[in-house]
Amino acid sequence: MKQISMRKILSALALLGVVVTTAQPTSSVNIIPQPVQLEQTEGVYVLPEKVTISYDASLKAQAEYLQEVLAQSTGRIAVMKEGKKKGDIVLLVDAQAQKAEGYALSVTPKSVKIVAADPSGAFYGIQSLLQLFPAEIYSEKWQRNTEWKAPCVEIVDAPERPWRGMMLDVARYFYDKEFVKKYIDMMAMYKMNKLQFHLIDDSGWRLEIKKYPRLTEVGAWAGPNEKRLGGFYTQDDIREMVAYAKVRGVELVPEIEFPAHILSAVVAYPWLSCTGVQHQLPTQHFISRDLLCVGKETSIQFLQDVLEETVELFPSSYINIGGDEAVYKRYETCPDCQALMKREGLSKVSELQGYLTNVVAQMMKKKNRTLIGWEEIIMRGKVNEPVVALIWHNVADSIHATNTGHKAILTPCTHMYLDFPEQKIPGEVQAATWMPPVSLEKCYSMPVNDYSENSTVLGVQGCYWSDQFIHGQALQEIAYLNENRSENYAEYLTFPRLQAVSEVGWSKQSQRNFENFRTRLSSHFARMDYKGCHYRLPVPRIEKEETLADGSTRFTLACDVPGADIRYTTDANYPTVHSPKYTGPVTVAKRDDFRAITVVSGTQYSLPLYFAPDYSAYKAYGEYVYGWEPLRVQPQPSAMRFEVTGKISGNGAYELAVIPTRGEDALQLGNLKLWKRNELMAETPADASVKVGNQPVVYRFELNQFEAGTPFHIEIQGYAPNGNNTSGMMFLRKVE
Ligand code: ACM
Ligand code: ZN
Repeated sequence: MKQISMRKILSALALLGVVVTTAQPTSSVNIIPQPVQLEQTEGVYVLPEKVTISYDASLKAQAEYLQEVLAQSTGRIAVMKEGKKKGDIVLLVDAQAQKAEGYALSVTPKSVKIVAADPSGAFYGIQSLLQLFPAEIYSEKWQRNTEWKAPCVEIVDAPERPWRGMMLDVARYFYDKEFVKKYIDMMAMYKMNKLQFHLIDDSGWRLEIKKYPRLTEVGAWAGPNEKRLGGFYTQDDIREMVAYAKVRGVELVPEIEFPAHILSAVVAYPWLSCTGVQHQLPTQHFISRDLLCVGKETSIQFLQDVLEETVELFPSSYINIGGDEAVYKRYETCPDCQALMKREGLSKVSELQGYLTNVVAQMMKKKNRTLIGWEEIIMRGKVNEPVVALIWHNVADSIHATNTGHKAILTPCTHMYLDFPEQKIPGEVQAATWMPPVSLEKCYSMPVNDYSENSTVLGVQGCYWSDQFIHGQALQEIAYLNENRSENYAEYLTFPRLQAVSEVGWSKQSQRNFENFRTRLSSHFARMDYKGCHYRLPVPRIEKEETLADGSTRFTLACDVPGADIRYTTDANYPTVHSPKYTGPVTVAKRDDFRAITVVSGTQYSLPLYFAPDYSAYKAYGEYVYGWEPLRVQPQPSAMRFEVTGKISGNGAYELAVIPTRGEDALQLGNLKLWKRNELMAETPADASVKVGNQPVVYRFELNQFEAGTPFHIEIQGYAPNGNNTSGMMFLRKVE
C-alpha cells in the first residue's frame, strides 16, 4: 500500500513538473571541481530569514547575483551592504592573499565569508557555497519547505589552469540566446571561464554584421523558404549575452572561421570565393571545398570589416579565426591566389593560409587582440605573432609547433569532443562516430601533463559540435528518450562530461580521482534537475549473468551512480520510473526480455540496458531502420513514424520489410508514406496483417526527387486491433 501511494505521489509531482530526486549524495560536501584544500568543520550554517550580504564595491555584480539566486529559491531577499565587512554573508577582495581567480571560503555556524582574489574568485566562492546548500537552491521557484543549511567548511581554492573552456557550435544548429545563456550559467556553476562561440560555419552565419546584411539575411537560413531553418544573433543579443557571461566570470570568445567552413558567407556574397559560383546552404553535415579566396583584395577587406565589428561587440582579448580543415584545391587554379603566391614567393597553396593568418594577426594586433585558432593555424607556414592553437587532432606535431613561441589549449578529440557518444551501446545516440566513444571516465582521465612538458599550455576545452543536429533531429536508434529536440540532446551530450572537463582544467592531474569524482557527481544530478538541464545517466551494468538449470537467466546488476535506483522489466517492454525497483538478483524466463534503467528522479533516467536484436539473419532485407515493441503499438489505426535520413541515398526503388519477431498478436498494416521534409514523395497502399511466422510484409516505393542533405522520414499505418504483444523490426534496401 505504502509503495503504491508513494508512486502515485511521485507521478503526480512529476506531472506538476516538480523534481523528485531519489539519488542521495553520500556526503554533504560534494563540490565539483574539487577544491584544492577543503576541511569540513563542526556544525552547520543555517541561512537566516533576514539575511545580509556585505561586500566590497568591486564585487557588487557578484553580490547581486547571489542575492538573486537566494531570492528565487529561498524567498529571502538579502539586505545589501556595500563597503561593509560584517554580515551574514561577506564578500571581500584581497588580491595579495589569493591566487588569480582564487578564493577562501569560510562557513561557520555564525556566518559565511568569502575572500577572493578578484571578481571571478568571488563568483567561484559563491558557487562552492551554493554547492553546500541543498539542491533546491538552484530552483527558480520558491522552495518553501527546504531547510537552508550548509555544512561548515574551510576552503582555499584556485584553478590550476587559466583556460577552462567549452566550445558551443551554434553555426550548424542555431541555439537561441536563452539556450546560450543557460549553457553559460551551467559552465559558470562549474567554474569554467571561456566560451568559444562557434558562430560561423558552412551551414550558417549567426552574427549580425551591419556592413554585410546578406550574411544574416541569406547566410543564416537553410532549406526551402517556407520551411527554412536557422537564425542569428543581433548585435544587441550579443551585447546581452556578453554582459550575462561577464557577471559569471565567463569570457565569450567569438570564432569567425576562415579560410574554410565559411560557405555561409560565400552563399551570401559569392565574390568571396575563388570561383564566384552561387551555392546553397547545406542542410546536412558538409565541409565545403569553396574557401575564402586569399588572392582577392575584396576578401581581405571583407575580413577586416567583419572582424572590426566583431571586436567591437566582444571585449575578449582573444579573437578566434577557426582555420581548420581547409582543402586548398581551388587555390591551385585561382588566378588571384596564384598571382599572390608568386608575389609572396610561396611554394605551396597551403602557405596561403599562413599568409592570411599573418595578415589578420597584424590587423588584430592594432586592436590588442591575440589570435586563437585550431591547430592548423600554426602548421601552415611561419606565423610571426604569438598565437594560441587549439590542439585537436594531430596532437603530437601541433603541440611541438607551439614551441616556436605560441601557446596551446588542449582540446584533443579523443577526450574533449563531447559530440561523440559516451558508449557504443544499443540505443545510444550515435551523433559523431568518426572516433571511438568518449566515456565520462575517458574525458575525466585526460592526461594534461603528457601534453605539457613545456609551459605553453593555457588549459583545456571541451568541444560540443552540432553538425549531426543540423535538422534539429537527433539520430537516435530507439524512440526512448521522449524529447527529440537538439537543445535537449546538446545537454544530454554535454552533461555530465562538462563537469569532468571542469575538473580536468581546475585540478592538478595528481589530485584527480575518478571514483571520488563519480561519487561527488551523484548529488549533482538533482542540482541539474533544478536548473532544468538534461543530462546522460549511465545504463545499469550487468555484473553477473548466470544461466540456471531450467534455462532461465539470473542477472546481478550494478549502478554507476551511487544512491540511484535501478528499475527493470522482464517482459520486453522498456521500463519506466514506476517499474519494479531492483533490490537484488533478478531471474528472467527469457534472457532477451530483460530491460533495466538507472533512475535519479521522476523525470530523469538512463537509456535502457537491453539486448539489441542480432540483425545478421535479416541481412537480405537491407538495413535496420526501426523497431517496435508492444507498448508503442496502438489498438486503433495510427502512424508509426521514423527517420530514414541518410538511409535514403538517391533516386530509385526501395523496399521496406516489416518483420515481427516476437509475440502472438497480429499487426495490421496500412499505407506507407515517404516524406521529404514535409513533402509527400511516395505512397504505397497496403491492407495486410502480419504475424510471427508469416512472410514479412514488403512495401515497395520509388523516389525521383531525391535532394542531398534533406531529411526523409517514413510513416506506416500500423496497429494491433486484438492485443499488442508483438514486437519486430523494419529493414530498408535500395533495389534499383
Ligand atoms: C575540428 O574538429 N574540425 C576542429
Ligand atoms: Zn582565390
